[in-house]
Amino acid sequence: MSSIRLPAAPEMGDPLAVTPSQALATALAHRRSSSAASLSAPGPNAEELRDILTLACRAPDHGKLEPWRFIVLSGDAKVRFAEEVRRLASSQADPAKAEGALIKLTAPPLAVVVVSSPKPAKIPEWEQHLSAGAVCTLLLLAAQAFGFGANWITDWYGYAPEVQALLGLEPQESVAGFIYIGSAKEAPLERVRPKVDRLIFAWNS
Ligand SMILES: Cc1cc2nc3c(=O)[nH]c(=O)nc-3n(C[C@H](O)[C@H](O)[C@H](O)COP(=O)(O)O)c2cc1C
Repeated sequence: MSSIRLPAAPEMGDPLAVTPSQALATALAHRRSSSAASLSAPGPNAEELRDILTLACRAPDHGKLEPWRFIVLSGDAKVRFAEEVRRLASSQADPAKAEGALIKLTAPPLAVVVVSSPKPAKIPEWEQHLSAGAVCTLLLLAAQAFGFGANWITDWYGYAPEVQALLGLEPQESVAGFIYIGSAKEAPLERVRPKVDRLIFAWNS
């Protein structure tokens, strides 16, 4: 059980000071996904998961539409879900590859399906999907803050209509990601990172 505690939720209108944070900068500089297949129990307990999802809900959200929701897969229900998905793997273009990918679904103790759920509104649907992506990113960071490894996976089953039906998605909804969360047996190794200077352009016309 983690010793991390969230501060009391701010009330509407409370001032939220913007202060330098070495801890936050270090956490961002060291953010790294763990291989989903390497994640094992224990995952977050119910209280920790609620806190992690509370942090993810602080994602920027144009129009305050809350255009996303979470489906939690854990315990026996996750096992049953994986069995259904395995049945569907045999009808994919490359059944062996589709089945092989399922280790990422079966190994971690917990999956949070982030559903992008755009609302009828003036805000472009694209921006609502971007907000769902921001939720996924915050979810990875929040899991790391609580000491858990996490990985954002879509794979074939994130797009398969049969899996979307199994999850009970509405026609306008899509899977932004399966966020796998668990204990990372080994520290993930740093990967190649972008050379930021190559990505920065000063507009000067
Ligand atoms: C939308 C999205 C979908 C992804 N889907 C997969 C996937 O299906 N399989 C996979 O191996 N990695 C997938 N990834 C990449 C991993 O989540 C991870 O970002 C990547 O391994 C790089 O590691 P890092 O997060 O530590 O930078 C996806 C990432 C994003 C943003």
